[in-house]
Parts: sequence; C-alpha cells; structure tokens
Amino acid sequence: MTLQFSLASIAPATVDSACVMVGVYEQGVLTSAAAQLDDASGGAIRRQIESGDISGKAGSTTLLFAPAGITARRVLVVGLGAQKSFDAARFQKVNIEAARALGRLPVADAVSCLSSVDVPGRDSAWRVRIAALASDYAAYRYTATFKPRDRSKQVELARLTFAGGDEAASGLAQAVAIAEGVRFARELANLPPNICTPAHIAAQAQAFADGHDKVSCNVLDEVAMEKLGFGSLLAVGRGSVNKPRLIALEYKGGNDGDKPYAFVGKGVTFDSGGISLKPGAGMEEMKFDMGGAAGVLGAFVAAVKMGLKLNLVCVVPAVENMPDGDSYRPSDVLTSLSGLTIEVLNTDAEGRLILCDALTYTAQTYQPQALIDAATLTGACVIALGKHASGLMSKHDDLAAELLAAGEETLDRAWRLPLWDDYQAQLDSGFADVANIGGKSAGAITAACFLSRFTDGQRWAHLDIAGTAWDEGRKGLATGRPVALLAQWLLDRE
Ligand code: BES
Ligand code: MN
Ligand code: ZN
Repeated sequence: MTLQFSLASIAPATVDSACVMVGVYEQGVLTSAAAQLDDASGGAIRRQIESGDISGKAGSTTLLFAPAGITARRVLVVGLGAQKSFDAARFQKVNIEAARALGRLPVADAVSCLSSVDVPGRDSAWRVRIAALASDYAAYRYTATFKPRDRSKQVELARLTFAGGDEAASGLAQAVAIAEGVRFARELANLPPNICTPAHIAAQAQAFADGHDKVSCNVLDEVAMEKLGFGSLLAVGRGSVNKPRLIALEYKGGNDGDKPYAFVGKGVTFDSGGISLKPGAGMEEMKFDMGGAAGVLGAFVAAVKMGLKLNLVCVVPAVENMPDGDSYRPSDVLTSLSGLTIEVLNTDAEGRLILCDALTYTAQTYQPQALIDAATLTGACVIALGKHASGLMSKHDDLAAELLAAGEETLDRAWRLPLWDDYQAQLDSGFADVANIGGKSAGAITAACFLSRFTDGQRWAHLDIAGTAWDEGRKGLATGRPVALLAQWLLDRE
C-alpha cells in the first residue's frame, strides 16, 4: 500500500487525526507546535520533560495517548536534539525516526508538524519534500517473497498530512514522484537473484514503458549483442544460464532535436566473483550488485513521474557473474565494443567490463549531453567513504559540482575522489590495451580510470555506490540511493 500525502495549515490542538507529531529540542525548548499542544493540554508535554521522560534527544519519540484538551487521539513527541546545531541532515533523520515510530502504531492517518520546524537555509518546499521522502522511506515494507498474509485487519498508515501552505506544494509533488522512483529501485534491488534475473529487469523496464506515454524500451539479447560486438559484457555473462540483456529506456519529455541526458547503471544480478570466486561469508549481499541499475531506473521513473521537459535515456547492462565450465577466466583477452582489448586479471572485477561496453553503446547511439553511470563497483570505495557518501569521479569540474550540489540538496550525498591521469599506469597490461584491475591502492579510482578509457570525448561522471546502495547485515534492505541525487540533478537541468 502506498502512503498518500497532503498539505494543510495545521492548528495542532484542534486537528482531527489519529496522531499529531510535534518536535521538541533538548533542554526543554519547545517548537511552536509543541508549545501550542502543551498550552491546550495544561502542560502535558512540559510535565514529561520535567520528569525526564522526554529528553529531546535527536530521533527519540514519546507517545501521549488521548491527552486532555487536544482533539487528536495521540501526540507523538519527537526529539530534535540541540537547537543550536539543528541542521538539514538532522531534520531528515528525525523525520525518518518519527515515521518509524508512527509505523509501529495502529493508526491509519496522521498529521506532522515537523515540516514547520525551522531549518537554516532551507524553505518550506524543501522541508516538506524531505519530510515526505523520509516518511515514505520508513513506510516501505519488503513483502515480495514472504508467504502471503491477510493484512486487511492490520491498521497501516495510509494518509499523512504535513503542515505547510501553497508555497510547499511543488516540494510535495516532487517528493511523490521521487518516492515512486525510490520504491521502484528498492523493490527491484531487494528481490533475490533467482527472481531478479537480467530478463526480469528487462521485463520491468518494458512494463514501465508500456504504461507510460513518451517512454519506449529497447532490449538487446545476447544474439543481438554478439552481432554488435559486445565482447566484454558477453564474456562476463557466459558462465550463467541467466543470459545477459542490454536494456535501453528512452523518455521524450523535451524537444525532438534536444540531445538526451544519459544514465548507465551496473546490473549484475548476482556477483559470485566468477572463477575468481568470492569468499562465502557475505556473498549473499552480492544480489545487490544491480543497485546501480535499480538506481538509474528509479531516477528514470522519478523523471517521468515529474513530467520533466527534457530527453533522457537509461541504459542497463544486466548480467549474472557465475563460475562455470564456459566462464571467462583470468588471463583471457577480450575485445570490447570500442575495439580496445582488455586483459582479464580478475573475473571479480566484472562491473567495469559490462559498463565499458554499455558506455560505448550509449555514447555512440545517443550522443548524450551528459553521461552518468552508477555502480556498486568497488569494495575500496566502501573502505574510503563508508556508507554515508557515494564516490564521485569525473574529469569535468562543472558536472562534478552539479552532482555534488544535487547530493547536498537531497542529502543523498556524494564525495569527489580524484581521477588524475597519474593513476592510469596502474592499468598497464603486457597483453592487451588495458588490464581490468589496477592493484591494491586506490581501487575505487583505478576502476573509474578503466571506465574513463571508454568515455573519451563524453561529458561523463561516475558514481560508485558500493557503500550507499544497501544497508549491510542480515536484514539490510536496498536504500534506493542515488535516485534522489540523480532526480535532483535532472530537476536542476530542466
Ligand atoms: N560488486 C563488487 C564490489 C563490491 C564489493 C560492492 C563489496 C559492495 C561491496 C565488484 O564487482 C568487485 O568484486 N570488485 C572487486 C574489484 C577487485 C577485484 C579489483 C573488489 O572491490 O574487491
Ligand atoms: Mn565483482
Ligand atoms: Zn560486482
């Protein structure tokens, strides 16, 4: 079930709702909505602050049930942390925590006054957009592969109203579109690899195109790719019975002659490492190795839902990397679509081998005005930046700046790493034009250097989302990053 959002100017004490949410800073500082509820209830909030039950700690939540003098059935008091250090990132965090707490309550509708909490340098449309996206994020449930249960008797959150006026309407509309893209990405990435095969991703893309005007989908199978010369991509897929696909979605929201923006996303539906087999522990997380594909498809969905007046293409090389008697092997030399030959030194460095052909194809077919790829490309990027920032690599300072700004705006942040030619020598090979690995140091950068050999003359940037695409651990889910970043970047281009 998807959550419905609306906007209203809210009088917190007299609103008719199952739950009203208000913020409280540390040290007993009430937001104006909290103060109004406190007054109407004869001090119900202040009493709990004095008793120590409400601390105001960022992300903490306290429920008041049916307080006297207030028309809402419940009040959810949400801690905002210290007022003097309150910022955009904290605003997002408290909105996620508030929505999580709300999701545990038997309420179908709620009102949030958190969207009226002041955030330095941000306006009401921004606050409503972040709050709605955070709420939708927390409301998402993965159910696809559980035994079907009767959920009809369960009360689930269905309607959420934010405090805000007409000035915030654009923010809410964008949030609804971007949330749909984020959900699309999360659902696809969470699916197990026995369901989410290259053919499945292609079918999802085709189904989206079928349901939307101005969108078309073109899928190449391995026979078509063989004819065109996708020697690098096809080598990676050869060990799997789940055959590769090259998926291309096109959206014509702009003028006929306008060059499109182009996204390319790594779609390895499972990365076992191939003959250079990965260790067993944690290998199950490699079902998320199509996170780049999910991310660019999600951003594409968001762009279409926003009705952006621009042309966009989204290209996904989808393959499974498996060991087999027919697998490609270390020391094989591949001929890529570009003609450059590649010496395979490790079959686990497969992402760059499918991306290089997809990038060549996208550049040749569409001559895009900018080309951005997203990929769960290297463990090295996770070591460098952890799970908070995606790695950004580009030789184009203006494009890099645009993407960093979009990340800041949406809090789907990226951090730039250098792409200097000094690193290129690490890819030298005695047997081919380029080797597919660059040794121990600067692994995220040498992976990008490899891709740069195939994007000559393109306005190109690379996002390494290995640390940001999913939450680690047994129950870790796909995050839907970098859908928001890419959607914002497109919004800024419109
Ligand atoms: N999909 C992995 C990268 C990865 C690893 C993402 C861990 C998220 C978490 C990629 O295909 C890979 O295996 N990369 C190798 C490259 C190496 C062989 C040069 C890596 O990072 O170890
Ligand atoms: Mn790999
Ligand atoms: Zn991989």
